[in-house]
Amino acid sequence: MNVEGKVAVVTGAASGLGLASAKALAQAGASIVAVDLDASRFARLQEVVPEARLLVQAASVADEAAVAQALDAAVARFGAIHIVVNCAGVADAAKTVSKGQPFPMATWDKVIAVNLTGTFNVIRLAAARMTGNEPNADGERGVIVNTSSGAAWQGQIGQAAYAASKAGVMGLTLPVARDLAPYGIRVVSIAPGLFDTAMVAGMPENVSRSIIERMVLFPSRMGRADEFAALVRTIVENSYFNATTISLDAGARMSAR
Ligand SMILES: NC(=O)c1ccc[n+]([C@@H]2O[C@H](COP(=O)([O-])OP(=O)(O)OC[C@H]3O[C@@H](n4cnc5c(N)ncnc54)[C@H](O)[C@@H]3O)[C@@H](O)[C@H]2O)c1
Repeated sequence: MNVEGKVAVVTGAASGLGLASAKALAQAGASIVAVDLDASRFARLQEVVPEARLLVQAASVADEAAVAQALDAAVARFGAIHIVVNCAGVADAAKTVSKGQPFPMATWDKVIAVNLTGTFNVIRLAAARMTGNEPNADGERGVIVNTSSGAAWQGQIGQAAYAASKAGVMGLTLPVARDLAPYGIRVVSIAPGLFDTAMVAGMPENVSRSIIERMVLFPSRMGRADEFAALVRTIVENSYFNATTISLDAGARMSAR
């Protein structure tokens, strides 16, 4: 699908991988509907995307009514939704048992609610709107890109909830692609390794350095958000990507520490 002139909803668009994806799609000519928790954080996007092609919406992806409202606003403003990029996510961590205390269920519920339920909530509500699009010459009505993680296969200590949520995103990719294929909507997930974003900045420096030095094959550095965004654009443009989860991780193989 050609990005030029299309409408892209990007969640988690105020920061990191979502921000880079929104910028890249805008640069390729899309109108952007940016969804994130906090409206005050859209400034970095507003600096680079022309006002006529940007709609910002403060909503939690896990909130059914708020997402429906944001998507309705997108259709009202731009006429349709062709592309969805699900980047909203949280990485709260805890050990299954720590100092005799079990993993806090509130942490589990939050991570699953945002990363897994939130991703599916956006998919289902956006796809319902995409089915009304005029198909292009290839029969395509839309493309949905989700963010899984290398943790789906290789979660670290403390990542039980995060890894389960990201394995869930990987797991839903094929059945959702099967559900939506009759409408000409493709569904692809990306499983990033370690990327240089605010999420990783919250990680102890010795942990991220140890991952880079001992677990990333080549190049021996964190991924850059623009490298993630370039893959998002490629997935949208290359119609033969479907129903798969693509690793973008410089060959990282994680050990427990
Ligand atoms: N950075 C990495 O190394 C890495 C690796 C693998 C996967 N990921 C995934 O990539 C995605 C983007 O992460 P990032 O690294 O850009 O982190 P980030 O913290 O820079 O950005 C995440 C954004 O999601 C938003 N968000 C959080 N909860 C939300 C909610 N309920 N509704 C709407 N927006 C919400 C945050 O406000 C933030 O702007 C996440 O799903 C993350 O799990 C990141």
